[in-house]
Amino acid sequence: MKDLEKIIFALPKGRILNKAHKLLLASEIEPEKEFDNINSRKLRFVTNDKEIDLIRIRSSDVPTFVAFGAADIGIAGQDDLLEFDYPELYVPLDLNIGKCRLVIAQPRDLISSASPDTWSHLRVATKYPNLTKKYFEKKGVQAECIKLNGAIELAPSLGLSERIVDIVETGSTLEANGLVEVEKIADISSCLIVNRTSLKTNPEKINYLINRFTEAVHGKAA
Ligand code: PRP
Repeated sequence: MKDLEKIIFALPKGRILNKAHKLLLASEIEPEKEFDNINSRKLRFVTNDKEIDLIRIRSSDVPTFVAFGAADIGIAGQDDLLEFDYPELYVPLDLNIGKCRLVIAQPRDLISSASPDTWSHLRVATKYPNLTKKYFEKKGVQAECIKLNGAIELAPSLGLSERIVDIVETGSTLEANGLVEVEKIADISSCLIVNRTSLKTNPEKINYLINRFTEAVHGKAA
């Protein structure tokens, strides 16, 4: 059972973890030593603040843990927030980390034969089927989404789909797999997210954390 006295803070594993960890330290929350052991199978960690425990989970699961109140606060990418679109989440702060963009990409040699204006029905491989469907619906295009959890860039060359929707940071994964960006859906960064009920039941501690993170990102107000 969740200890109601404790604030559970959800951190994403993967490429954002180091930057998120730095922000956490700048906000004066120090995880126990075991947190730095990348081989550890532990998922929950105590911190120097006895009222705050950390959990380390898949980035795409952070919105779900926080929306259902299993965690009170967390760090999530706007890509995953757009995908799940949970009304229970309050997003008080853009952390200016994990900057990338969400794009539609396709094989380089499709470019001349199929411009976005001519699309009516598409098969798209993506980690984000909900947002992809919605995005294409608005354009009047019917998108058949194939949900993958990684290595999306392989899909076109193996005939799984003609297009993909994925995040791009440097562009090197697209390039290495013979794909090009054809349309940007959104600019993405990581945000602090809060469960609305947790904010109501524990406003002091949650607002304290929001303020600490705001100072860590923007500096102290004069
Ligand atoms: C993400 C994304 C792309 C890649 C883009 O995957 O899904 O594959 O990064 O980055 P780039 O533009 O700098 O090449 P990630 O590395 O997070 O791994 P995943 O495929 O396991 O999700």
